[in-house]
Amino acid sequence: MTAVVSIKDARKAFGDTEVLRGISLEVERGEVVAVIGPSGGGKSTLLRCMTLLETLDGGSLAYGGLEVAGPDGAGAVRYVKGDALKEARGRFGLVFQSYNLFPHMTVMRNIADAPLRVQKRPRPEVEARARELIEKMGLSGCEGKVPCQLSGGQQQRVSIARALALDPQILYFDEPTSALDPELTAGVLSVIKGLAAEHMTMVIVTHEMSFARDVADRIVFMDGGVIVEQGSPEQVLGAAKQERTRAFLAGYRT
Ligand SMILES: Nc1ncnc2c1ncn2[C@@H]1O[C@H](COP(=O)(O)OP(=O)(O)OP(=O)(O)O)[C@@H](O)[C@H]1O
Ligand SMILES: [Mg+2]
Repeated sequence: MTAVVSIKDARKAFGDTEVLRGISLEVERGEVVAVIGPSGGGKSTLLRCMTLLETLDGGSLAYGGLEVAGPDGAGAVRYVKGDALKEARGRFGLVFQSYNLFPHMTVMRNIADAPLRVQKRPRPEVEARARELIEKMGLSGCEGKVPCQLSGGQQQRVSIARALALDPQILYFDEPTSALDPELTAGVLSVIKGLAAEHMTMVIVTHEMSFARDVADRIVFMDGGVIVEQGSPEQVLGAAKQERTRAFLAGYRT
């Protein structure tokens, strides 16, 4: 089976700082991968490279059978262009820590805008799907509100709906709850758990260890730009093989 996404030997530096030092990760359809690790370990950079917000210095990236980036034969990385790049961008959705909603647009427009303008899908279909997602995210009655009228948790659920409206094959989350109070965190984690139960393919960077344990099929521990260890939640959280993983987890009650 072809992985939904496959990144191989990914390398990325900012100036003299090597942030990704040879990362390989494949995610299968329906799989939920939680990425954990200390601050500065390269988790966000990995997600930004996988979502084409940063370019790789080395390695390769593919979505399904679509090769997005790979060696150019001269020591650098060549990216596909034009329609192939657009096609790749359509395969994934991304949810950030800060919700990045359009402040002047209603919930409905925030969700429907890209499917209408970028994907050029018919309005009735797009709005019907948006209403379905609004209900699914527990936001019924909010479609006419603007972001400042919503709690942070509600805004984050709008940004999840917005990502889902584009019908991605895989959804990436970068610390989706770290800007939220605990009582708002629960609502966001519960919609992500709902997506996991429906076998949505997801990669989730999180500091919420008990959530990672509940939701993930696989946990990846990253530190210093490498994957130090990965495995089932039981194995990584309960019986880590590497001393670095154990030292990191000692800072959490899991
Ligand atoms: N655009 C950039 N320019 C320069 N350095 C950067 C840039 N983005 C990230 N870095 C550096 O890369 C390293 C890894 O950062 P990254 O944000 O990927 O870590 P992280 O694992 O997501 O950390 P956190 O848990 O704090 O979010 C850090 O040292 C950071 O300062
Ligand atoms: Mg980060």
